Amino acid sequence: MTAPGSLDESALKELIAGELGAVRDRSLGLTTGALDEAELTAQVSPLMSPLVWDLAHVGNYEELWLLRAAAGIEPMRPEIDDLYDAFEHPRSERPSLPLLAPEEARAYIATVRSKVLDALDAVRFDPADPLTSGGFVYGMVVQHEHQHDETMLATHQLRKGAPALLDPPASPQAGAAAGAAGEVLIPAGTFEMGTSDDPWAYDNERPGHLVDLPSYYIDAEPVTNAAYIAFMEAGGYDDPSHWHPKGWEWRSEGGKRAPAFWSRDGGGEWLRRRFGRVEPVPPAEPVQHVSWYEADAYARWAGKRLPTEAEWEKAARWDPDAGRSRRFPWGDAYEPGRANLGQILHRPAEAGSFASGASAYGVRRMLGDVWEWTSSDFHGYPGFRSFPYKEYSEVFFGPGYKVLRGGSWATHPLAVRGTFRNWDYPIRRQIFTGFRCARSTEGAA
Ligand code: AVJ
Ligand code: FE
Repeated sequence: MTAPGSLDESALKELIAGELGAVRDRSLGLTTGALDEAELTAQVSPLMSPLVWDLAHVGNYEELWLLRAAAGIEPMRPEIDDLYDAFEHPRSERPSLPLLAPEEARAYIATVRSKVLDALDAVRFDPADPLTSGGFVYGMVVQHEHQHDETMLATHQLRKGAPALLDPPASPQAGAAAGAAGEVLIPAGTFEMGTSDDPWAYDNERPGHLVDLPSYYIDAEPVTNAAYIAFMEAGGYDDPSHWHPKGWEWRSEGGKRAPAFWSRDGGGEWLRRRFGRVEPVPPAEPVQHVSWYEADAYARWAGKRLPTEAEWEKAARWDPDAGRSRRFPWGDAYEPGRANLGQILHRPAEAGSFASGASAYGVRRMLGDVWEWTSSDFHGYPGFRSFPYKEYSEVFFGPGYKVLRGGSWATHPLAVRGTFRNWDYPIRRQIFTGFRCARSTEGAA
């Protein structure tokens, strides 16, 4: 996949039309098959919307941005805007709204889409207009739909009942162990964090700015289930000295003693429920479905800490020989086979796989597999300017949210890059979260 920044307007439009089609296939695939109308409109968890809400919401967002804002077309269904405005109704309330039924929702989003494609030719990508320059607003809408597809996968994971998703066929990319994991030393120095010129980057990734860091160690790969089980077996959940005080409260009040979706069989072996099937926890996969508090406790138990966002990004992107930051760990263009992204598996891959996705420093699997918790709160970079709307990023800035980096197996390659920032509450674990640790080179971690 070519980086959108390297294309002229007509090539960009071709890319956009293709990617709009691909993401729609993905959305429809997550809302059909074994799911009947009742399942699509049901609330699986108060944390999630009914699947049919996500489906109509992506179309309504597309109508707002690609028909009304970019193409100047009159509203199609202004009366439904309120239903699909994420800020009007919390997720827990959405099942009780007069939502479009699945068939109506599919028809509505298909009509929006055909109008978008009809109007695409005539919309000018004006370099002086930040909304259309480089096709930004189209990139925003494609990424938005992929983000909701990942959210729908989290809903599928929370669903009880018979499995509705089939595992994709075994992926040829997941192979070849790269040798023992360990730590990589990142030397002290300045790197460029964020971006000023990636045309599809979000406001919170901007502007690019220099950050100087002391040297540190970072784990070469995400923490595995086997390593996490060692923490559990060492009594990690029972020793408050490893835990943030709020984390200890969360663990105690919620009775948390293992990652989400884990249970034990009669013989004491750990099992996990994954999309409706119960299976042994695979020791070599990155641990998944842990909260920030669990990641933080593990790191302290291991004598380490979580990396800051800047430490994560320098290890992932900085090319010390070229003196510049890359868009992806391995280079500027996405290349299939270098990362477990895009739902090629329905799980993280074993330790040692995707070694060809290593960064310039040799740090592996920074993108894909699991979203990685960092120690950082979500804030705007120096010079941040909200664009094109405050509710994407700015309203979430503050100490309540922790930043996650790198995308998961469920994240599409167009919806993540080395600069991409995700965020969630430190108690959350329904998303596809894991972590790696870091350590300062001098003194205490
Ligand atoms: C960036 C993943 C936190 O899902 O809440 C979707 C993305 N914003 N619709 C979210 C988003 C608006 C957002 N995250
Ligand atoms: Fe949304």
